[in-house]
Amino acid sequence: MRTSTLFGMVAAATIGAACNDPAPPAAPSAMPVSTGAPSSAVTASATATASATTSSAAVPSSPPPSVVADPKVLPTIDPLPPMNVPASNAPTVEAIALGKVLFFDKRLGKDGKFSCEGCHYEDKGWADATVLSTKADGSVNKRHTPTLFNVGYQTHWYWDGRAPSLEAQIVAAWKGQMGVAETLDERVKEVAKVAAYKAMFKAAFGSDEVSTERIVKALASFVRTLRSGDAPFDKFEHGDKKAISESAARGWEVFRKVGCASCHAPPLFTDLSFHAVGIGSTAPQPDLGRGAITKDEADNGRFKTPTMRSVSTNAPYFHDGSAATLEEAVDYMLGGGPPGAKVDGAFKQAKLTKGERDDLLAFLRSLAATPAKLERPRIP
Ligand code: HEC
Ligand code: HEC
Repeated sequence: MRTSTLFGMVAAATIGAACNDPAPPAAPSAMPVSTGAPSSAVTASATATASATTSSAAVPSSPPPSVVADPKVLPTIDPLPPMNVPASNAPTVEAIALGKVLFFDKRLGKDGKFSCEGCHYEDKGWADATVLSTKADGSVNKRHTPTLFNVGYQTHWYWDGRAPSLEAQIVAAWKGQMGVAETLDERVKEVAKVAAYKAMFKAAFGSDEVSTERIVKALASFVRTLRSGDAPFDKFEHGDKKAISESAARGWEVFRKVGCASCHAPPLFTDLSFHAVGIGSTAPQPDLGRGAITKDEADNGRFKTPTMRSVSTNAPYFHDGSAATLEEAVDYMLGGGPPGAKVDGAFKQAKLTKGERDDLLAFLRSLAATPAKLERPRIP
């Protein structure tokens, strides 16, 4: 492996090990100040806790250099911004096609029986309709499976933002979620045995060599295509006043009036930052979220703001999956959190009439696009 492309793999060695540790060691520092992350301070222990397989010199200290994705490969979807992608893995049509097949291929998982789709289903908003999913090794996840919609726009991956690149996140998911931390090479060899894959790797990467790195790059390219935009609400914003109901239009006003938009900021309906809203704070041993990564007490209980795009498609909600329905999640957010819970200043209780609450829900539903159904790939 060339060092220039090592970033994802090396970071993953740390992240993979940390995957479900209640207090995971800090991920390599990757907090560009421009993202508005509440704390950009990563202590020196971040590198000190790197696993034995990771030399501290090789741990990336910043996100990979990025370029803007080619709009011919990733066509613009209104009103989503252009997508920044790592210069070392700008999506190509061929890499996306390969990644799409790999995403659904159970060869990647433990004993050839588990795929990424095992927890990220298209018809469940690219999540899994489960409070906490079970990994291929039989253990239960500590956090709820998030949607994959628009993850390509993020700047930190996972609920606590511990992964500095999508590539780093995916290799960690592959090892940790799919039960192959010890047997990754064996899985790579299984993929390499398939003649039809050889041609796809050649088309995507210039030679038919199959490697962990190439599989991860292709998966990331495919995942970047999973976007949600061009919703009825966007048509409404562009002047088609009939695109959404009057109730949804009033709900947009409510959403801004009560301050939801300060964190769920358009056009992605997330500020890509981390906030404490009190979810899980009454548990005997609350999940520290972002705080466990930055080791900054101010970040304790903070989690990444989820997108509101297509939010009505991926129940249940929150990092612990504790709200079963969108109504429940919205009522929680309107309540301002449990009494005495540490919450960010922008998070306040809002008293709405029943009509206003219904309008707010109608607005959130108008953010669900109906993208063309993915054509399921044939697994070679
Ligand atoms: C057993 C269930 C499971 C499987 C299988 C799985 N994931 Fe996930 N995925 C999760 C959970 C749970 C999280 C959130 C973990 C956290 O934040 O700590 C997650 C997070 C993610 C994220 C980050 C989303 C965000 O908002 O930061 C991406 C991207 C992702 N998974 C892609 C994949 C890919 C690609 C595969 C296949 C290699 C895969 N997942 C396999 C359960 C799964
Ligand atoms: C201070 C920032 C902030 C404000 C203000 C805010 N949210 Fe959130 N919202 C978050 C964060 C952070 C989460 C994830 C919390 C967690 O899981 O720990 C979240 C989660 C949600 C979810 C669940 C989404 C999912 O995929 O799990 C919904 C729905 C939601 N918010 C709606 C609203 C509404 C409606 C308002 C206004 C009444 C609002 N939010 C105000 C930050 C905010």
